[in-house]
Amino acid sequence: MPLAYRQRLGEALRAIDRAHLRRWREARAGAQGATCLADGRTLRNFTSNDYLGLAAHPRLAARVAAELPAQGFGSGASALLSGRSSLHAELERRLAQLTGHDDALLFSSGYLANTGCLPALAARGDFIAHDRLNHASLIDGVLASGAAHRRYAHGDAAAAAAAIAASAERQAFLVTESVFSMDGDVAPLDALAHAAHRAGAVFYVDDAHGCGILGADGFAGARARTTDEGPEHVVMVTFGKALGSSGAAVLGSAELVDYLVQRARTYVYDTALPAVCAAAVLEALDMLAEDTSLLSRLRTNIAHFRAAAAGLSLPLGASSTPVQPIMIGDDARALAIAAAVREAGCYVRAIRPPTVPRGTARLRIVISAAHGPADIDALVDALDQAFTATGSHPCRQDDHA
Ligand SMILES: Cc1ncc(COP(=O)(O)O)c(C=O)c1O
Repeated sequence: MPLAYRQRLGEALRAIDRAHLRRWREARAGAQGATCLADGRTLRNFTSNDYLGLAAHPRLAARVAAELPAQGFGSGASALLSGRSSLHAELERRLAQLTGHDDALLFSSGYLANTGCLPALAARGDFIAHDRLNHASLIDGVLASGAAHRRYAHGDAAAAAAAIAASAERQAFLVTESVFSMDGDVAPLDALAHAAHRAGAVFYVDDAHGCGILGADGFAGARARTTDEGPEHVVMVTFGKALGSSGAAVLGSAELVDYLVQRARTYVYDTALPAVCAAAVLEALDMLAEDTSLLSRLRTNIAHFRAAAAGLSLPLGASSTPVQPIMIGDDARALAIAAAVREAGCYVRAIRPPTVPRGTARLRIVISAAHGPADIDALVDALDQAFTATGSHPCRQDDHA
């Protein structure tokens, strides 16, 4: 029996290979940053979600080092036992104050926040309208809730409203990302909030990729809300991307947070985030409050990249955020182009199904404030070479006909 099961696994892996959908792991040497050391080579790094270059920033590292002797590293227990420290409490207060929500609840990760909160908030007898490009953690949360659900056309507030209007369930929910993780486009949050408000739906925004980078101070997505008289608005922010740490928080009304403390299983039964991760986020928030130069540098880099890539007629997505997809379509071709870009010294990854819909494989390029102009120029040169070498260059198709 065990052998038969191994065979089943082996056959499944071979099918994944035949479809060019095998995922593989690499071990980075050293810190996350504008460059990374992989296979003994230093590559310019365009794969991380460290949008502001905070993951290895000396200020975050110094704050963690300063807190470690008193806090230790492991939290040692779930938050409801003794795992929640004064740093957790301080970060929850700070996030609520910053974003205008009553309260916040820290989770160990965004994945756990979404898969714990959605099933706590919605149940059989409810209805969830969710964007068709929402992240796996939101889909898993929706499915685990047992609520009826419909995926609406990407970014389409009218389609979301229509889906809710056609539902007859007890309570509706509208669930979206703020910045879509694989496309980089920004959801029409005002229109979606309005649709939720008019329908009396709970508005749930996953601000994983928007937190720290959206709006004038980086927190426009986390302030997403219907109106004060409206139904609940819930925002999930993560710390493992622009904020340079790890973990997540769910923001909402005092009652909602109190309810989640009772019912979100991934809060109640999970070992709390290490306190030093909360300390690193507090430092990141201090830095972003003190000055917006990192945000400005990020935006300059994004504009630089888009202008240079557009000059080569590369199939860029419609994104103004650090996530800059270059659409390829075919899975094998996306892998070949990513390998050629890497050969030219820049680390990018091909994103294939099931992370993105079939036929939409892409390079997911991530621009960071940590990059300098020379990094962006080197990337664009590497893309130029890679598209040419693989016969995929939109301007040089004839060379390889
Ligand atoms: C949109 C979105 N939500 C949630 C998550 C999960 O967050 P975490 O990495 O903190 O588990 C991710 C992770 O990439 C994401 O892209």
